Amino acid sequence: MKNATLHFEFHISITALIMFLLKTWRASAFGVYGYLNFTRNGFLEHSKKFKPEDMEIRIEGKNCVVTGANSGIGFATAEALASCGATVYMVCRNKEKGETALSKIQSSTGNPNVHLEVCDLSSISEIKSFASRFSSKDVPVHVLVNNAGLMEQKRVTTSEGFELNFAVNVLGTYATTELMLPLLEIASPDARAITVSSGGMYTTPLTSDLQFSDGKFSGAEQYARNKRVQVS
Ligand SMILES: NC(=O)c1ccc[n+]([C@@H]2O[C@H](COP(=O)([O-])OP(=O)(O)OC[C@H]3O[C@@H](n4cnc5c(N)ncnc54)[C@H](OP(=O)(O)O)[C@@H]3O)[C@@H](O)[C@H]2O)c1
Repeated sequence: MKNATLHFEFHISITALIMFLLKTWRASAFGVYGYLNFTRNGFLEHSKKFKPEDMEIRIEGKNCVVTGANSGIGFATAEALASCGATVYMVCRNKEKGETALSKIQSSTGNPNVHLEVCDLSSISEIKSFASRFSSKDVPVHVLVNNAGLMEQKRVTTSEGFELNFAVNVLGTYATTELMLPLLEIASPDARAITVSSGGMYTTPLTSDLQFSDGKFSGAEQYARNKRVQVS
């Protein structure tokens, strides 16, 4: 009996050691790969392969929907699309922040065809209302950029009962894409749905515990899990 217990404990500690080594390996590999590919230096390196003619393209008449467009990557994306002449729909959860960003983009690009859609993407019912409002405009969607995302460190549950990171990063992205599909289909074969994932996904494997219901919650790990799910 004592031998069996010892054997069991030995087995547990070997498993824990393997898990620890795997986690450390993933974090180190991500650190090196991320430094080379995802930092400013990574961008400058990759940008050497950009073709100047691609950067000068004009896309007047193309309708582009960008979520989380009031700041960061979403703002830069909306601004770049507007500067190429596209009609841009900025999906933001906060009306004031959205309006400020919209007027910045209109004045920096001189493009008046920039619009604001207010929607909290952590809520399926808000996404449904947004999609139905948007569909009634009867415009094809050429590009949907699922950019909105967050990393909430505490385990917060939305009023609809979903863990918040999962609600925005996974469920919100999925529901928005699904509900925009008919409008993307109208614009096909040119339509694109682009989801902004993250190299952070390399730090964790895919799991079926989508809402991080088991174990000690970690916002960074949940974010990485969500980003994995986005590309799977
Ligand atoms: N920055 C990086 O290094 C990095 C690296 C890899 C991937 N990414 C990904 O890039 C995307 C943009 O990140 P960022 O760095 O530009 O961050 P950011 O500046 O914080 O932008 C995130 C945007 O998402 C919006 N958002 C958050 N929750 C929302 C909700 N419930 N409904 C609607 N909009 C919501 C935010 O709105 P509020 O302003 O109202 O909060 C904000 O506009 C994210 O998907 C992120 O995972 C970022």
